[in-house]
Amino acid sequence: MSSQFLIPKTLLPIFQPHLHRLLRETAPVAMVSANRLRNLYRMWRIVERQNIQGDIVEAGVARGGSAVFLGRLAEQSCLPRELWLYDAFEQGDAFDGGGSSCEDVCHTLFDQFNLDRSRVHVADGWFQDTVSKFPDRPIALFHLDARGYEGCKSCFDQLGPRIEPGGFLVVDNYGADEGTRQATDEWVHSIPRSLVKTPFGHTQCCFQLPRV
Ligand SMILES: C[S@@+](CC[C@H](N)C(=O)[O-])C[C@H]1O[C@@H](n2cnc3c(N)ncnc32)[C@H](O)[C@@H]1O
Repeated sequence: MSSQFLIPKTLLPIFQPHLHRLLRETAPVAMVSANRLRNLYRMWRIVERQNIQGDIVEAGVARGGSAVFLGRLAEQSCLPRELWLYDAFEQGDAFDGGGSSCEDVCHTLFDQFNLDRSRVHVADGWFQDTVSKFPDRPIALFHLDARGYEGCKSCFDQLGPRIEPGGFLVVDNYGADEGTRQATDEWVHSIPRSLVKTPFGHTQCCFQLPRV
């Protein structure tokens, strides 16, 4: 899939009013570009249309912009879905979007954007320490937006097996960070059936787990 198939920005409100509203609300807070949010939305529509069960997980939250976007998708789903958010927040590298406190991000999610607290879970800490506590629940969409081999590998080891057949993994820094790409490729090759790999732009890459 490539960006040339996107609806021109000026026509977006006519063809996709729902997405347009979502982007207007969340893109100014997100670090990931509006184009990449649009692509996440496209993957999400497939998950919804194909009735794939499961929650949404984001590893790499920063100030919470893309998390609010995903939270809105979870709210509007016809299936009961929860949102799980992982970040080291203040301990994260400020140059990579870290540095906001978990408290500030919760304020953004719950007070500013009114996400439903009972359906959103925020884990503060390094992925290497937190993702292993993810409960025994299926994942329909996993957005990985971080850098570095070790952290990404922990996510794949712990969360990869939870992604439902037909569910999506969206890796934001696949084309931009060697560690992310290596951890992703190792995980992809460890899966017995081949995944459909869809690059988007220079950095984002999406994988749909084969349906059984
Ligand atoms: C690019 S930012 C996320 C941007 C966010 N998805 C958005 O679009 O608004 C990457 C985040 O990943 C976090 N991060 C990177 N490696 C991590 C690790 N090993 N454990 C926990 N958090 C990590 C950083 O703290 C940072 O906040």
